[in-house]
Amino acid sequence: MIFSTLAKRTFTSTAFNPYKVTVLGACGGIGQPLSLLMKLNDKVTDLRLYDIKNAKGVATDISHIPTNSKVTGFSAEESDGLNNALKDTDLVLIPAGVPRKPGMTRDDLFNINAGIVYDLATAAAKNSPNAAILVISNPVNSTVPIVAEVFKKNGVYNSKKLFGVTTLDSIRSSRFISEIVNTNPTKEKINVIGGHSGITIIPLLSQTKYGSTLTKEQKDSLIHRIQFGGDEVVKAKNGGGSATLSMAQAGAKFANAVLSGFAGEKNVIQPSYVDSPLYKNEGIEFFASPVTLGPDGIQEIHPIGEINAEENELLKECKETLKKNIDKGIKFADSRK
Ligand code: NAD
Ligand code: LMR
Repeated sequence: MIFSTLAKRTFTSTAFNPYKVTVLGACGGIGQPLSLLMKLNDKVTDLRLYDIKNAKGVATDISHIPTNSKVTGFSAEESDGLNNALKDTDLVLIPAGVPRKPGMTRDDLFNINAGIVYDLATAAAKNSPNAAILVISNPVNSTVPIVAEVFKKNGVYNSKKLFGVTTLDSIRSSRFISEIVNTNPTKEKINVIGGHSGITIIPLLSQTKYGSTLTKEQKDSLIHRIQFGGDEVVKAKNGGGSATLSMAQAGAKFANAVLSGFAGEKNVIQPSYVDSPLYKNEGIEFFASPVTLGPDGIQEIHPIGEINAEENELLKECKETLKKNIDKGIKFADSRK
């Protein structure tokens, strides 16, 4: 009796923020560890895993972990599997789609992943129009605009709740700088802005103390490593895909930040590729910069801050590429009925 009362109290306090989270593409290289990490998140009470293959198996496996959430697998074979996975959920993570192989750019994934993201976004717009949508599938620079267009078509677009997940660029920059200066990576933070591919990724080293302590050669090589960190993994996996485990950690970190914002925690700031006012007057609808997260999603989009002449050059090139990537996504969405 005493035990059951205690157990009930414990459960009630840890389940204080009961959020429903859906992972679309939950059985892939990212999807599985990401689902595991979301199962370990006490803010989540209802975890739904959807994939075109094996979602029930992965869900059953993860469901044995004794944390707050109930875990359910939804397969593409069951009628309404996707709709039920999404129905009234609070947060949708989308890592569904194909990854790169050596020699490919993220843009080379567009032809397959654009259609996958379009279809999943259509289901989300119909079943969970108020959910936060976190897009991981590449090319993020184009897939995020596709989701926006789909939500607009369905009359439910809320720019405060759409996020391109660029957290991996930030965690890489923390790790890579710490390897150069021999510090604790958990204490290192670099503001990474722009987009999520090659030259659209801009780490602003001038805003850190290392802007003046590293040599130009060190800075150039660090910037290049952060911009092309994804290629490093693709090459090392040698045909076996791209970053999955580090991405799962990055995705779970960002999802947790969004849920913390929902829960009313203060000063939750993370970078993300969002529908942004920063360069709209130059025709760039989406841009990554730090955003404050709150109960309704994005509370504030922060400007990039002061940058130096070299970073300004990087920003110019970034904007040219971003504009093309965004237009490509919008055109694709418009071309679909
Ligand atoms: P993967 O092939 O291992 O997994 C993809 C999963 O998606 C598979 O389980 C597959 O069955 C599923 N899937 C395919 N079509 C689907 C659909 N219509 N509905 C539901 N599920 C579907 O690939 P991965 O390594 O997990 O990478 C997934 C995506 O994430 C890729 O596009 C990759 O480029 C991208 N990615 C993004 C970042 C980032 O920083 N944003 C980082 C790493 C990878
Ligand atoms: C990454 O940055 O690791 C991902 O975008 C995957 C990729 O294709 O590089």
